[in-house]
Amino acid sequence: MHDPINVALLGSKFMGRSHSNAWSKVARFFPDGPAPAMRAVAARDAEAVASFARTWGWEQGSTDWRAVVEDAAVDLVDVATPNHVHAEQAIAALEAGKHVACEKPLAGTLADAEAMAEAAERAPGRTFVWYSYRRVPAVALAHRLVASGALGRIYHVRAAYLQSWAGPEAPLVWRFQGDIAGSGAHGDLGAHIIDAVRFVTGEEITGVEGAIEQTFIEERALAEGTGGEIAGAGAGTGGAKGRSTVDDAVLFLARLSGGGVASFESTRLATGYHNANRFEIHGEKGALRFDFERMNELGFYSKEAEPAVQGWTTIDVTRGGDGHPYAAAWWPDSHGLGYEHTFINQAADILAVLGGRAPQVPLPDFADALRTQRVLHAAVESARHRTPISLNEGRPR
Ligand SMILES: NC(=O)c1ccc[n+]([C@@H]2O[C@H](COP(=O)([O-])OP(=O)(O)OC[C@H]3O[C@@H](n4cnc5c(N)ncnc54)[C@H](O)[C@@H]3O)[C@@H](O)[C@H]2O)c1
Repeated sequence: MHDPINVALLGSKFMGRSHSNAWSKVARFFPDGPAPAMRAVAARDAEAVASFARTWGWEQGSTDWRAVVEDAAVDLVDVATPNHVHAEQAIAALEAGKHVACEKPLAGTLADAEAMAEAAERAPGRTFVWYSYRRVPAVALAHRLVASGALGRIYHVRAAYLQSWAGPEAPLVWRFQGDIAGSGAHGDLGAHIIDAVRFVTGEEITGVEGAIEQTFIEERALAEGTGGEIAGAGAGTGGAKGRSTVDDAVLFLARLSGGGVASFESTRLATGYHNANRFEIHGEKGALRFDFERMNELGFYSKEAEPAVQGWTTIDVTRGGDGHPYAAAWWPDSHGLGYEHTFINQAADILAVLGGRAPQVPLPDFADALRTQRVLHAAVESARHRTPISLNEGRPR
């Protein structure tokens, strides 16, 4: 029997809800690990955070994140705030001796991410980063297939993360403010596909050969409040406008440590797609393809099948009895999972690690997420200076 892990959450909106849901359900579906105790949530508005705490089952709501982080009763601090405060909050938690689970990207800037990874090296606590798409069962299965050698040498990777909510009608919420977000579609969406490619192929990105950074909508209406969702829909706006200081899209070409080549495209203006987080991987023995808009499916092509029957197979990745990752914890075969399960699966793996067991598939820590951050940084440097950037030495030149 494990002692519970006392959790404190910072942030109470989109990710605040998704993480609260995960902490509240994880012990029921994954009973082997330590259970979380939902001690406190901190956000900025006193009334709203008190109501959030009641709704989601946190013992206490607070506007003082530092007091929450330093509370001796807290074991794990879960950082679900905008990117510009990740470093300050995560480093304070690490210095207070806590474990930290931080939202992605690790930070808005490479300098912040480096400071966080350095603090993690010095601290006793474990670190985790919510690259939650690793825990889509189909993505975890793709990782396992590649690790088993099913694709052989990898030649091509094509990754794209396509959304479309950031048209001219979207107000200037924090996701369009460079001093808060660090970047636009790039850090928001590109971070996920860079992590996914590293995770699924098991290879590192060794260089960026060229990149485009594009802002299509230069000015947006100033928002009064957040509107309560990513696009700021419902936020009041007056007549005033302000400048967007982030990209709407970034595209780049890269080389992989196994000698393969890769393309990445992240945009919030891909009309027609809402959350198409995709990759295709072509190896000498086979290929894989995935699209989050059909998240329960993984496409697999094997060149080792009889030539006459070679073709794309659509695997319904919901069958725990057949060894599909995470599926055994959930429902019967073909009773599909959704977005929220990826966070519950990650909470389960974090708790497993803190209880001394291995996660179902590798969890990124701050050092791992710093590698993704270096690629994000290199792509922007490549676009701005119109030059290739080598990542061979571990940092962009
Ligand atoms: N893993 C994923 O798939 C995923 C999805 C969306 C967002 N994210 C990441 O999660 C983080 C939060 O994004 P979100 O969509 O939840 O944003 P959001 O705007 O919906 O919520 C941000 C929350 O942080 C609080 N906050 C802001 N500044 C704060 C401060 N200085 N101190 C304490 N609280 C503060 C706000 O009050 C709010 O509760 C970002 O890093 C984002 O990139 C990850």
